[in-house]
Amino acid sequence: MTLNCRPTALITGGIGGFGVALARLLLARDFRVALADLDAEQGHKVTEDLDVLFIPLDVGDLAANHRAVALVESRYDAIDAVFLNAGIVGRQDPAAALDLRAYEAILGANLHGVTFGIDAAIPALRRSDGGRIVVTASLAGLVPMPGDPFYSMTKSAALAYSRAMAPRLAEEGITLSVVCPGFADTQLIGPMRSVFEDAGFPILTAEDVAAALLLAHDEAEAGAAYVVQPGMPPTPYRFRNVPAARDASGASVAIPTGLSAHALPAELDQRAE
Ligand SMILES: NC(=O)c1ccc[n+]([C@@H]2O[C@H](COP(=O)([O-])OP(=O)(O)OC[C@H]3O[C@@H](n4cnc5c(N)ncnc54)[C@H](O)[C@@H]3O)[C@@H](O)[C@H]2O)c1
Repeated sequence: MTLNCRPTALITGGIGGFGVALARLLLARDFRVALADLDAEQGHKVTEDLDVLFIPLDVGDLAANHRAVALVESRYDAIDAVFLNAGIVGRQDPAAALDLRAYEAILGANLHGVTFGIDAAIPALRRSDGGRIVVTASLAGLVPMPGDPFYSMTKSAALAYSRAMAPRLAEEGITLSVVCPGFADTQLIGPMRSVFEDAGFPILTAEDVAAALLLAHDEAEAGAAYVVQPGMPPTPYRFRNVPAARDASGASVAIPTGLSAHALPAELDQRAE
């Protein structure tokens, strides 16, 4: 974290439900906040009453992610926290033939938004001697969502990539963690909202999720993935181990010590269950 001055955070998907709710929490903590989002016109409107920097950004564009981070650094001298939060739902009927444009759009927002965002954040966080990255994935990345397979795929991939990157980054003081919310009341769920309402199914508020994103930031536990569901506090998800390799006698065998520990999945680095 930068010394002797207010910490700085960048939030992508910043003018959406979770983005604005999180920005308010960070501002209350005296952070300087930059909100990056696709829709420039709407972005300037939404941020009019907020003391934040707005940056037009398509997170699916690698160079644009780097430019956004550079802009935050040039405005505020440093960057301490990056929330990779932009996302969209799938825009295709899963029963229809693959719609390439819909596929590329969701890969750009939900997956490249994370891989490119992490790539852009790392050099800046190194210059701050460390910092936090928090990725907004989804419960749909932990359990299949048959109504929107593209969404499930991209959120699973974002989660897997983040967990695989986290140990290496932690060595440099950059903690990368993930938040996996259930359904929440924002634009993203669109007409699904009335289905939940009619069924009396509880859904999260944007503020619930923003609080979980801040908790992930504060706890700074590398590779943690927090489940956020209505009626319970954000809870770290406990991933199960996979079966380990066995030798001819049937005994489980540890991973060879000659291999770099952080090149291995945490689960494989242990004995079988
Ligand atoms: N609302 C939910 O039920 C829910 C549940 C789990 C996870 N999520 C995830 O939370 C994140 C925030 O969603 P939200 O609920 O606040 O929805 P939202 O629609 O209110 O906000 C998403 C924001 O992302 C922006 N965005 C979309 N594509 C972009 C791109 N290519 N580049 C830059 N910005 C882009 C949108 O303009 C929007 O402002 C998303 O990643 C979403 O997948 C939402």
